Amino acid sequence: MKILFLNGPNLNLLGQREPEVYGRATLADVEAKVRARARELKASVEFRQSNLEGELVGWIQQAKGQFDVIALNAAAYTHTSVALRDAIVAVGIPTIEIHLSNVHAREEFRHKSLIAPVCRGQIVGFGANSYVLAVDAAVNVNER
Ligand code: DQA
Repeated sequence: MKILFLNGPNLNLLGQREPEVYGRATLADVEAKVRARARELKASVEFRQSNLEGELVGWIQQAKGQFDVIALNAAAYTHTSVALRDAIVAVGIPTIEIHLSNVHAREEFRHKSLIAPVCRGQIVGFGANSYVLAVDAAVNVNER
């Protein structure tokens, strides 16, 4: 099981960015937690971040044939990006939507996700543990 974790804009600032919303863990801390859980479940993980929508689209396209599951925190692009949604559909790789914060308990513009309808499911609101839960969800993605 090969899982591609993709992180969108401003997630490189985790730890310093609105810690009351996103917690004090840095993206490197989150990655370490993901790797620890992946080791337990014998999954392999690639972990990337970009502030650029097109780079994220490119990584989704290149994932075809390389990864079994994509775990995506598209950050602000969640709420705006038809391009990311189309890329997920184009590659047909099961994709799990992740958010650290509970987007549904926040501003109304965060309630709408353009990618949710083309993802297998969403994991939101558990801070860094949203990512750890995504490893479990990825490993079991074909069980319903
Ligand atoms: C986020 C939620 C988004 O609304 C926001 O734009 C982010 C982070 C989260 O992980 O909670 O940058 O994706």
